[in-house]
Amino acid sequence: MDEPAVSRSSIRVVLLGPPGAGKGTQAQRIAGESGVPHVSTGDMFRDAVKKGTPLGREAKAYMDRGELVPDRIVIGIVEERLKGRDAHGGFVLDGFPRTVQQARALEQGLQTRGTGISHVLNLSVPAEEVVKRISGRRVCRQCGAMYHELFSPPTEGGRCDRCQGELYQRDDDREETVTARLDVYARETSPLVAFYRERGILAEIDGVGGPDAVARRITEALDGAGR
Ligand code: AP5
Repeated sequence: MDEPAVSRSSIRVVLLGPPGAGKGTQAQRIAGESGVPHVSTGDMFRDAVKKGTPLGREAKAYMDRGELVPDRIVIGIVEERLKGRDAHGGFVLDGFPRTVQQARALEQGLQTRGTGISHVLNLSVPAEEVVKRISGRRVCRQCGAMYHELFSPPTEGGRCDRCQGELYQRDDDREETVTARLDVYARETSPLVAFYRERGILAEIDGVGGPDAVARRITEALDGAGR
């Protein structure tokens, strides 16, 4: 079998795609298979909300409206996280960058360390499918494991298979907030597709089909011709 073009332990991946496209699902897999950390800004904010920190209180107001947390807050948090020892080799970014300003800040931050993003995976899923995925999503309050009422239900209704924790619906997964999140994605985040295409590191991934089928397409993109 051919050697991958880029060693998986040094991949620096950005996952792009609308809310509900499967970024978190695939980021967890890539990180697990590659031995690099999964860095999700959404998870970082939800954790801060759960702990009731000042950051959590500020972020919650934006998240509940389906708006983006301001760049001045997000950029600093990610810069700090990527300085972590475990992220020196590589990382999978899920939910960041989400604006051109965030993308520029990430690029500059990595350049000062003599490195850059190796792959940007753009998961495309039609709007009606992402709405289905989001409305059925349930998350374990205890361990964060993710389920879907129809596509990947837990064995016992309302309880996590791994730890028996309670499953809940995210506050921002209510119908009215989902519409706002999709609008924000189209306005603020979709320009990043052109931003990364110009840099020659964008791979378009068909995000339709089950998680295994999508993961196979990602493997081809990561282990094929990368940078
Ligand atoms: P965030 O948590 O990043 O949410 P998101 O981008 O809207 O993405 P989601 O988590 O909704 O979906 P996903 O693509 O990860 O899909 P998933 O794998 O879960 O951000 C939340 C909020 O935080 C933002 O609105 C904003 O306010 C703030 N924020 C975060 N980052 C920020 C930033 N950089 N700047 C500013 N603000 C920021 O899958 C969804 C469901 O579908 C699950 O149930 C799953 O089981 C199922 N599923 C997954 N794949 C498949 C498949 N192939 N087939 C069938 N079902 C599937």
